[in-house]
Amino acid sequence: MILLTGGAGYIGLHTAAVLIAAGHDVVLFDNFSNSKPLGVQRLEAIVGRPVPCVQGDVRSRQDMDGLFDQHTISAVIHFAGLKAVGESATQPLHYYDNNVAGTLVLLEAMMRAEVRRIVFSSSACVYGEPDSSPIPETAALRPANTYGRTKLMIEDILRDLHGAAPDWSIALLRYFNPVGAHPGGLIGEDPNGIPNNLMPFVTQVAVGRLAELQVFGGDYPTPDGSGVRDYIHVMDLAEGHQASLDWALRDPQQVLTVNLGTGCGYSVLDLVRAFEQASGQAIPYRIVARRAGDVPAYWGDASLARQRLGWTARRTLEDMCRDAWNWQRKNPQGFA
Ligand code: NAD
Ligand code: UD1
Repeated sequence: MILLTGGAGYIGLHTAAVLIAAGHDVVLFDNFSNSKPLGVQRLEAIVGRPVPCVQGDVRSRQDMDGLFDQHTISAVIHFAGLKAVGESATQPLHYYDNNVAGTLVLLEAMMRAEVRRIVFSSSACVYGEPDSSPIPETAALRPANTYGRTKLMIEDILRDLHGAAPDWSIALLRYFNPVGAHPGGLIGEDPNGIPNNLMPFVTQVAVGRLAELQVFGGDYPTPDGSGVRDYIHVMDLAEGHQASLDWALRDPQQVLTVNLGTGCGYSVLDLVRAFEQASGQAIPYRIVARRAGDVPAYWGDASLARQRLGWTARRTLEDMCRDAWNWQRKNPQGFA
């Protein structure tokens, strides 16, 4: 049985769908602080069978020990955490508690249960502003915000843990910008309130929930002046987790750190144009001032994941836009 902490969230649900289709048994664990039980019901509709889901908090020793007592877990994929960069600046203690302290409680429970394989959701934001793109995994780590520092601290904890317990197998996955949805449109990204991130903002404009997109900055040193990122389809990301899990289950007893991105950069305006094409919807937009803290352009070097995991992102920007739109069109209010 594979434990997915934060498994009811955006990336957790998509990964669960891919793992179950590949024949894995999974148990989801979530406190529903940023997700809804309906998402799990939709996952069950996709895979055509019940998916066990335990409600609890990774920061609770009692919850974690109970979970490992009840299920025979062979590996953990640790998604549970908070991810809003702006909120992490105003509520730093809440972020360190949820992300860092929560991970410590999980790892101690894994120690007691003798489970020694973990795949961790890190982020490209551990790189901060990189010297150049594509960013290799060996680039300097200098996160520019509290959220990113929680991810780097957890990476450091896991590297130190491996130093002391070399029989652990640990995959640190640095995601670039996950977007899109399962092609059936039953699950997708459902942020609370006004979206901070580009793709859910665009889909909510398309569906009429928001009037227009603000493009943050038109004067960056990029081909069209708007910011450039490495957008990756969430189904490709989910398959990257499958490959990482298969690696961990082979018991390599190593720490593997890989970027999960496409290796391509697209601008905000590239994404808007691709979305308009894929959806047939016009996206009214206005170019406004840069957003504080934004890096002009970065994308990942995706070659190590190909070499080590045999995984590579296959889906195009058009696929990302089509599937994001299919989800939003069928669920204008998300999981509400
Ligand atoms: P999400 O918020 O949709 O999913 C996270 C899930 O964890 C939610 O269901 C939430 O309810 C749960 N959770 C949070 N704190 C918990 C706790 N203390 N105990 C139990 N459950 C808890 O986010 P996501 O986009 O699916 O991201 C998953 C992971 O990937 C996160 O760790 C995030 O930091 C990381 N990540 C996400 C992105 C992205 O753009 N989506 C990029 C890089 C890294
Ligand atoms: C943000 C987080 C990053 C996290 C990532 C994935 C910051 C500073 N970084 O990255 O830590 O890993 O999300 O969840 O928040 N944009 C607009 N208009 C909008 C929204 C965004 O023009 O309404 C632009 C941004 O300026 C940027 C691009 O779209 O150029 C992507 O933004 P976003 O989706 O928020 O992701 P990142 O900022 O790359």
